[in-house]
Amino acid sequence: MARRRRYLFVCVNRRPDGQPRGSCAARGSVELHAALKAELAARQLDRFEVRACTSSCLDACWVGPCIAVTPDDVFYGRVTVEDVPELVDALERDQRLDRLLLAPEDFLDPKERRSGG
Ligand code: FES
Repeated sequence: MARRRRYLFVCVNRRPDGQPRGSCAARGSVELHAALKAELAARQLDRFEVRACTSSCLDACWVGPCIAVTPDDVFYGRVTVEDVPELVDALERDQRLDRLLLAPEDFLDPKERRSGG
């Protein structure tokens, strides 16, 4: 297989129910990863352009499901299965999907934000 132009790392980490941080898997990231793979394959982007991989925790659980895109150095958050066509549209056009981009402050644990740290 060829090296793809982009790799998407979809966090599929799962924590036990009731854990305060929650997890991307509990918010639907396993289904999101499957939908991304299917959409990329349907558009024949999977062989040379984009590979959808899974990852462990990206440490922004509170805004999950999260996706890291390399080599773009982009993080998406709060991504749902319904976002997949629009996200793949953006990848096809070499663009970012601004409405799902995570800002630097999104990586701060809400508890740290409340305490000012
Ligand atoms: S569980 Fe997905 S970012 Fe932490």
